[in-house]
Amino acid sequence: LQTAETSFPIPANVHAERVVSVTHYTDSLFSFRMTRPASFRFRSGEFAMIGLPNAAKPVFRAYSVASPAWDEELEFYSIKVLDGPLTQHLQKIQPGDTVLLRPKATGTLVLDALTPAKRVYMIATGTGFAPFASLIRDPETYEKFDEIIVTNTCRDVADLRYGNELVEGVREDPLIGELVEGRLHYYATTTREPSPRMGRITKLMTEGTLYSDLGVPPLNRETDRVMICGSMAMLKDVKDIVEAAGLVEGSNSAPADFVVERAFVG
Ligand code: A2P
Repeated sequence: LQTAETSFPIPANVHAERVVSVTHYTDSLFSFRMTRPASFRFRSGEFAMIGLPNAAKPVFRAYSVASPAWDEELEFYSIKVLDGPLTQHLQKIQPGDTVLLRPKATGTLVLDALTPAKRVYMIATGTGFAPFASLIRDPETYEKFDEIIVTNTCRDVADLRYGNELVEGVREDPLIGELVEGRLHYYATTTREPSPRMGRITKLMTEGTLYSDLGVPPLNRETDRVMICGSMAMLKDVKDIVEAAGLVEGSNSAPADFVVERAFVG
């Protein structure tokens, strides 16, 4: 990467930021933190376009920002794909390396796209957890909703580590720990490796296990809002369940009951 950096100029209108830290969780999952340009604004839950300075025309990919809007640095949570145009290189970054960032963030998984309610569900599979890592660290989430239920479903126990550590960190945080106490509920399940809680979130919703485990009434438009982030198949299946309960999809221009966004792939 160092030689690549010296060989290719930084494209115009792109920020060149510095990697601060990298954490590897499994063979296929890692997170990293990097510097944030002072001018880079985003709403918690939005995604940014990132790339590497390893080509004359670098490959950019949409990445949900996993850090909250108030954080001085930017955090991202990523899969590693052997032949992924970006992730095959990105998985090798080290502190001090350069990551490119386009100046604008956007996305639908934002508080502004939902009308106020008692409760919000944030339903994630795999790296779909990233935007919720941002939102559960944002005090605005707790201003808008009394109860925040964040779910995380992965194949294996090790895949849940980023989410587990993040939620633990939020609860122990000197600044927001008190705010989230008794209001942030974390519901993690595995689908392949045995663990205390197993099953696809779709099955747990349809059969009502999610609600009975949490001690809340079934999904209801009057009280509940939903944010969904995962694979295309997961989005469709969860959306069907949420729509069957009578919830209406919202957007930035027409806020309503639920929002959907595809998790980063490849
Ligand atoms: P499963 O193991 O039953 O396929 P992946 O690693 O393939 O991206 O999947 C991440 C998690 O999402 C896995 O636990 C997987 O369960 C689950 N999943 C995959 N497809 C769906 C779907 N259509 N609805 C709900 N969960 C899904």
